[in-house]
Amino acid sequence: MLRSNRELWWAFLVGLLITGLYGGVYFVTREVPAAGELFGHALGIFGFVLMLMTEILYSLRKRTRSASWGRMSSWLQFHIFTGLVGPYMVLLHTSWKFNGLAGVTTLFTIVIVVSGFIGRYIFTRIPRTLDGLEIEGTLSESALRQARQLMALWHTIHIPIGMVLFVSAFVHMGGALYYATLLK
Ligand code: HEM
Ligand code: HEM
Repeated sequence: MLRSNRELWWAFLVGLLITGLYGGVYFVTREVPAAGELFGHALGIFGFVLMLMTEILYSLRKRTRSASWGRMSSWLQFHIFTGLVGPYMVLLHTSWKFNGLAGVTTLFTIVIVVSGFIGRYIFTRIPRTLDGLEIEGTLSESALRQARQLMALWHTIHIPIGMVLFVSAFVHMGGALYYATLLK
């Protein structure tokens, strides 16, 4: 169950720290960190790794129900934390230019984060155990039934967006590494 907003606060705090670092680099170099240079590139790579973790880890834990490694609710909190910090780092990586496929990938990234917030809201409407598993037996109540249907519908939209996002991100990385890094 997501009983607190702890993961949102942590993401906010870490976001502030990263903003401070970004501001520091800007202050020293007097330039917006370029996407293909050390700092901007590192932001893209670390941010993307966090996004990959967001995509994979929670689903893995969710599908291994026999697993005892951590509550599902904690994994979802971690999912949300990395799902916010990763995209934020990637946003700073863009150097505020959004041309071509890289721009489209950024758009998908923003869409999945917004969609995540909607999912989080619906998720909290469904009664769950402390571990995050749905509590059966309340299906007769129509508002709760509706929330479950909405959650199922949300999954059918959110998951494909994630897949398209990662395909376009990998193509962008291939192109960027080939044209902007190897051919330099
Ligand atoms: C979802 C993840 C990512 C998004 C949304 C993203 C987005 C972008 C955007 C918007 C730009 C600026 C394009 C422009 O100049 O108009 C860019 C540049 C660049 N990105 Fe990414 N990026 C991501 C991940 C990565 C990763 C993981 C790498 C490295 C492996 C990378 C390498 C680069 C490079 C080298 C450039 C500079 C290209 C140039 O100077 O022409 N990106 N990225
Ligand atoms: C890089 C960004 C993100 C990616 C790639 C991503 C991807 C995914 C995927 C693939 C699932 C399906 C898990 C499954 O059922 O196996 C999921 C579920 C979910 N995500 Fe995200 N997500 C991201 C960001 C976020 C954010 C920012 C939030 C909240 C603010 C969020 C909230 C949720 C919720 C509530 C679920 C449903 C959990 C469930 O039904 O068990 N996600 N996400």
